[in-house]
Amino acid sequence: MSFLWGVSTSSYQVEGAAENDWTDWERQERLKVRGQRCGQASGHRERWRADFALLPSLGANSYRFSVERSAIEPEPGFFSEDALRAERDRVDSLGRLGIEPVVTLHHFTHPQWFWARGGWENPDSVAAFRRYAAVVADALGARARIWVTLNEPIVFLLGGYIGGLIPPGHRSFAAAARALEHLLRAHIEAAAVLKERIPGCHVGIAHNMLDFAPDRRESALDRRLARAGERLYNLALLEAMATGRMDWSFPGEGRARIEVPGFPASNDFVGVNYYSRVHIRFRGVPGAVGQFLYRDPESRGLTDTGWEIHPQGFDRVLRQAGEAGRPILVTENGIATQNDGLRRDFLREHALVLAHRLEAGAPIRGYFYWSLIDNFEWLEGFRPRFGLFEVDYATFARRRRPSADVFAELGRRFTAPASEESSSAARR
Ligand code: FCB
Repeated sequence: MSFLWGVSTSSYQVEGAAENDWTDWERQERLKVRGQRCGQASGHRERWRADFALLPSLGANSYRFSVERSAIEPEPGFFSEDALRAERDRVDSLGRLGIEPVVTLHHFTHPQWFWARGGWENPDSVAAFRRYAAVVADALGARARIWVTLNEPIVFLLGGYIGGLIPPGHRSFAAAARALEHLLRAHIEAAAVLKERIPGCHVGIAHNMLDFAPDRRESALDRRLARAGERLYNLALLEAMATGRMDWSFPGEGRARIEVPGFPASNDFVGVNYYSRVHIRFRGVPGAVGQFLYRDPESRGLTDTGWEIHPQGFDRVLRQAGEAGRPILVTENGIATQNDGLRRDFLREHALVLAHRLEAGAPIRGYFYWSLIDNFEWLEGFRPRFGLFEVDYATFARRRRPSADVFAELGRRFTAPASEESSSAARR
């Protein structure tokens, strides 16, 4: 397979039009913008064919998207043929365009019934996820060769089980630890069933990684907490991939030791989602969440999600991801900005880091920009603009941004045939 060059989306963020835990959350006014609703998001449900037709113009040979469980399994154990057919149509259509699909099974959203049954704290969630994975695998078949079971499980747990910020809105490390164990087991089970149904497919997790720094370099406590944050957020999951054991803790929050012997063999690749660097500061209160600070030491200006632009951190997290001993797919990397010049710089700078890592022999197999089109950015609503194509939310018209050309141009270099210098590195 040649180097994968693509863009990422998730179902709820571009299609909306689902009744799930996030629609509930919106009705409870838990987003940052009062009254904001995902609705039809970017209108992709009606426009997916036209949106897919944009992919070749980006030089993309791959596309990462997610399937929405609340549509596929509207009642526990009842699967919608219509929803499955719609996903099959998409995968077929990508195949006709020569685009490799990367299918995500869980990207933050859940059917409402899932929480009524205890969510991820309920051990039955594991078998239920296996069954869901099997049904989707049977529907999509051998056309879908690359699978992401879980998107950012650590982000989901920190936000949903410890920080109380996203569904299910808990604030308990102990509950998060129970959910973590079941998520890891659900991944193992889903990977097994995917490989059984689609021999030779590749399965992984998309892992959000941040570059961690102490807020005050001279403070021993800040340094200590930055290391602890890095372990909790970046490293613990990678260690579990290497060893089958996960030691997940943060000072003052709690500690969980989980044995998942089947975990290493269930990961064919590690997916890396990288956006930014955070600074950690001891504020006199223990706890993991709410202490991640975004700073702008180089005065480049923070992005529209308030994140630092820090390509050097991309290098650091790619090295860390290498410790898992697996091929790496950069499953997300992107910037929210209305200033498309910043996006062009962001793309070039991160591509440079990517090229250096490849030249050093890192086993990186692909890169996906977040995102194809502007979309619904969870708690932030529609304000942040991540797209290579702008969306006019009044008409759902798409307009190509100049950064789309930069993305295509970079892609030509990373996917060029072996005779060309840049791709000899990409192939290693
Ligand atoms: C990631 C999420 C993705 C998107 C980007 C900006 O953490 O996986 O859904 O919201 O951030």
